[in-house]
Amino acid sequence: MKIAIPKEHHPGETRVAASVEVVKKLVGFGFEIIVEKGAGSAASTTDKHFKDAGASISADVAAVLKDADVVLKIQRPSAAEVKLMKKGAVVCAHMSALTQKADMEAMAKAGITAFAMELMPRISRAQSMDILSSQSNLAGYKAALDACNEYGSALPMMMTAAGTIAPAKVFIMGVGVAGLQAIATAKRMGAVVTATDVRPATREQVESLGGKFLTVDEEMEKDAETDGGYAKQMPPEYFDKQKQVVSEHIKKQDIVITTALIPGRTAPILVTKDMVSSMKTGSVLVDLAVEAGGNVEGAKLGKVVKSRNGVHIVGHANVPGRLAKDASQLFAKNLFNFLSPHVDEEAKTINFDFEDETVSGTLVCKDGALVHPMLTQGS
Ligand code: NAI
Repeated sequence: MKIAIPKEHHPGETRVAASVEVVKKLVGFGFEIIVEKGAGSAASTTDKHFKDAGASISADVAAVLKDADVVLKIQRPSAAEVKLMKKGAVVCAHMSALTQKADMEAMAKAGITAFAMELMPRISRAQSMDILSSQSNLAGYKAALDACNEYGSALPMMMTAAGTIAPAKVFIMGVGVAGLQAIATAKRMGAVVTATDVRPATREQVESLGGKFLTVDEEMEKDAETDGGYAKQMPPEYFDKQKQVVSEHIKKQDIVITTALIPGRTAPILVTKDMVSSMKTGSVLVDLAVEAGGNVEGAKLGKVVKSRNGVHIVGHANVPGRLAKDASQLFAKNLFNFLSPHVDEEAKTINFDFEDETVSGTLVCKDGALVHPMLTQGS
């Protein structure tokens, strides 16, 4: 069984879908691992590291992908990569399946068996396979650091002989995995933290980290969560109320980090131009949802911009990729945890149990057809 790890070609992608630890484990199953030359270089993992772990290295992407039974990737494969894969090859990656249906159809047509790892069901058994969690956690941490970098003052209160510095006020909007880590990081750095979310369950989580919860509308928030644990699209009345509550609060904040996402949809606008204008000169907004359209009006993907009143708006792309080594290691481990229950060690192969929720929940296409209900039923 041949497992291929190609170099990522998506612009700005620094991660690699394998780590030394995972390559060693896969080699231990008796699999042949082939890594494209330089695949780990932006994630501080050299060809020699992979070679010492038991992989072979090739500079020729066609040789890497040819005959591969399984291809591990960070981003969905390009059309050129799909062309090089054999019919029946299994590909695991962050496919952006719900928004990139044409690419999913092209993979189906090529006879690829594709798993969209971002669709992993939110069940406790699948936590160790959840790429959204592992990457969002790092993104939340890095967002707090990115905010500090742009902010021209200190975060903790400092009482010095020359005078006292007040602690920074940090406001987190969206308290999922990234938001919780942003709260914890900002708290560790001594900031005064407040946070808000549509899902009422998050109040306790914010408070347990030492933050204060900002409620928008308890009544409407009662029905804000899907069975899968995600936020629902909220009605316009909720956004009106949220605007009022947030407008008052945001004026007094030094740093705002937004992380609000609705799976498969454009991110909701939570910070309007007027709110940005009401903020203090030198304050910072970090928009972690910028790749999904953005939570902040005026945020630009891949850029740090300054508003007219001197507010820094940070819109870095691929924030987990700004911590490429850790992000790669965790992503690779997620993929390994997904594959390993299906390994037949005696036959040295992988036999997927298609009844398993983690398999059926992520399977996008197989035997020439799209199979995921969220794609076939268009919901
Ligand atoms: P996400 O990345 O989809 O969204 C981030 C946050 O934004 C969410 O908390 C969401 O409620 C919030 N949000 C959406 N619209 C908003 C709005 N208009 N205003 C304010 N906030 C808004 O969420 P993420 O990080 O994936 O987590 C969702 C839930 O899933 C969490 O409860 C998390 O603990 C849970 N989870 C469970 C896992 C498992 O059991 N395997 C694995 C990972 C997460």
